[in-house]
Amino acid sequence: MTRTPEEMKNEILRLTREYSLHMHSMQRPGDDPLRPAFDAAKDGVAYAGRVFTEDEVVAAVGATLDFWLTLGPEGTAFEKELSELMGVRNSLLVNSGSSANLVAISTITSPKVPAARRLLPGDEVITVAAGFPTTVAPIVQCGAVPVFIDAIPSTGNADCDQLQAAYVPGKTKALMFAHALGNPFDLTRVLRFCKEHDLWLIEDNCDALGCTYSMPLSVARELELKHLLKAAESGHPWIRIEDLGGGSEPVLTAPTGTWGDISTQSFYPPHHLTMGEGGAVNIVKQAALKVIAESFRDWGRDCWCPSGKDNTCNKRFGWQLGELPEGYDHKYIYSHLGYNLKPLDTQAAIGRVQLKKLPAFIEARKRNWDYLRQGLADLEDVLEFTLPTHATAWNSSGFEWDSSGCRTECSWFGFMLRVKPGAGFTHSQLARHLDENRVGNRMFFGGNLVRQPVFVQLRHDRPEAVRIVGDLAGADQIMNQAIFLGTYPGLTKEMLDYEIEVIKGYIDSSLVSRT
Ligand SMILES: Cc1ncc(COP(=O)(O)O)c(C=O)c1O
Repeated sequence: MTRTPEEMKNEILRLTREYSLHMHSMQRPGDDPLRPAFDAAKDGVAYAGRVFTEDEVVAAVGATLDFWLTLGPEGTAFEKELSELMGVRNSLLVNSGSSANLVAISTITSPKVPAARRLLPGDEVITVAAGFPTTVAPIVQCGAVPVFIDAIPSTGNADCDQLQAAYVPGKTKALMFAHALGNPFDLTRVLRFCKEHDLWLIEDNCDALGCTYSMPLSVARELELKHLLKAAESGHPWIRIEDLGGGSEPVLTAPTGTWGDISTQSFYPPHHLTMGEGGAVNIVKQAALKVIAESFRDWGRDCWCPSGKDNTCNKRFGWQLGELPEGYDHKYIYSHLGYNLKPLDTQAAIGRVQLKKLPAFIEARKRNWDYLRQGLADLEDVLEFTLPTHATAWNSSGFEWDSSGCRTECSWFGFMLRVKPGAGFTHSQLARHLDENRVGNRMFFGGNLVRQPVFVQLRHDRPEAVRIVGDLAGADQIMNQAIFLGTYPGLTKEMLDYEIEVIKGYIDSSLVSRT
């Protein structure tokens, strides 16, 4: 009996599902009944990891059998689904969050952006000293100067009090900050500053997919956030005008990554959704930036035909650009010094399945953070815990908020804590103990980035390549005192209990040895 290709594919996918159910049970979400029980005597608790079921494996194998390989139908569908979900104009898939940041910064260097706003070599981009290196590296790679301002230890985010001191008229062209570990930075102050000085805002949203920020409606109007107000009016599920109660003014709420000009995502395994390697550049509102970003991603070409297509512009042989002869094939005309940063279509197929699970992943991250916060609450004499931006205090029923009328809702990348000076142990001693007990933990990425060998060398080789505002004491404090635990959706209640027990056990024993 000969089988049709479709029957063969179905059989392969049936077996794939069976295989994955058997082999990948440890990667199922924490609340999935098919996930094996956690055994505290031998299992470790990772700080992050891929969370998937047989659905992602079937999607990957299906796309591989189709063998489109390069970014194609799955990629196009993913880009559309992500942009619609977030409420941005376009999303472009790239092969990592770092590439997304590179494309984002490159985009504003294009001669196609208005001359007064174009980022030229020697121009400055204000960024924050504490965080991940590839939020900053593209600024240098594009010939611009990163201007480091300090971070606030309690939030991990940029200290907006330093924006004015960092600003140089005519030289400062953009602000680029990450929402630290899923904690939105103060978008109200940042956007007001950008509006006042006509600066680009690039949001590194790599660790923050699913976070939301809310600001009073009157402020949103003053900042002319027309794209968000319009999306809220047209009923976008994630962008809305809400009443927070207590007689205060209604707020505009929208996801991080939709407030600035361009934002970026990472889909590396620890992030909110994964396709192995991968990332995205979100063009928030200006259509013209999409063509530029796409050009940087796709070799620098002027043509915008999707892969496998010719003559989308209907004048493939009708252009005359640069010093090329009239009619030179548009497919081989280059307007930027570009890269090739595309992922594979198979990755996009995995991402599409993950995207459907995003709401559940976001809720799990919030739930896990809350569980750790409650569980560690009585350690406040030796540990300091992160506060969401605009929160002033935490208690067991929630957060207290400042008087700005702004709120944040965090889809946490991690649970950051700082060991107080005088605690009797340091953050690296605690980290080592957690490691020995198989509890995954991380420092806040590069700590104070200017102290990393690469930036020390750069400052030595080319002192003019970076600029530093103030003493960066907050970033140093994060570097010297902070670690973070996981909040990812693969964690179970038993794993979180084990983490809490290990931390409490260590602190109890170190307090005993101190007395
Ligand atoms: C804030 C931030 N930006 C960018 C990146 C880079 O993402 P990728 O690892 O996908 O290159 C990371 C990585 O974790 C990150 O935390």
